[in-house]
Amino acid sequence: MTDYTYYTASTLDGFLADPDDSLDWLLSQPIDEDGPFSIADLMAATGVIVMGATTYEWVLEHTPDEPWPYPDQQTFVFSHRELPLVHPTVRVISGSPAEHRELLETAAGELGVWVVGGGGLAAAFAADGMLDEMVVCYAPVALGAGRPLFTRPFDFELLETARNKAFVIARYRVVGARGPSQ
Ligand SMILES: NC(=O)c1ccc[n+]([C@@H]2O[C@H](COP(=O)([O-])OP(=O)(O)OC[C@H]3O[C@@H](n4cnc5c(N)ncnc54)[C@H](OP(=O)(O)O)[C@@H]3O)[C@@H](O)[C@H]2O)c1
Repeated sequence: MTDYTYYTASTLDGFLADPDDSLDWLLSQPIDEDGPFSIADLMAATGVIVMGATTYEWVLEHTPDEPWPYPDQQTFVFSHRELPLVHPTVRVISGSPAEHRELLETAAGELGVWVVGGGGLAAAFAADGMLDEMVVCYAPVALGAGRPLFTRPFDFELLETARNKAFVIARYRVVGARGPSQ
């Protein structure tokens, strides 16, 4: 069984980025790189990374002179377009997550899949039964508008919380889609 984890930072009002895809609100926050829920721990457990096109383009635009940050994982970018492939481990795919389940799980091997975002792609993984956990690092900021954390009605069960400097980190189990309201 491959574990799928949506690990992300969010504002208190549930945004991944502002309406212009800026992460200034996030990058200005203090964090202990060796503290709880560190990226190093996440990467050690990750064989495959999936992300949407906007997220991939953000990385390319904001780190043009830096090497690809995830050379030890296979990265699958969901897009309907041809995008520049900046590293041999990066591939572009499109369609539903379920269509690619075998591909992703074979590539992950014994390790897990990190669903980076955005919130529409994470929700599509959940809808296809391909999301086990969500880890949200909440920054002490409200933006009022922006890119949503999660775009479908779902229930989650809180499993664990931790503090890392400015962040409250919550780990949830994905319970399932919410039924229609009564
Ligand atoms: N706070 C954090 O830690 C964090 C984490 C992740 C992302 N972010 C930021 O949040 C923002 C997220 O942007 P976003 O909401 O636009 O989400 P996104 O998932 O990054 O990008 C959405 C785009 O991905 C493509 N896509 C998604 N699902 C697809 C599918 N099933 N098949 C084919 N293509 C698909 C489509 O692009 P095309 O139709 O153009 O191909 C879609 O418009 C970005 O600014 C990112 O940098 C922040």
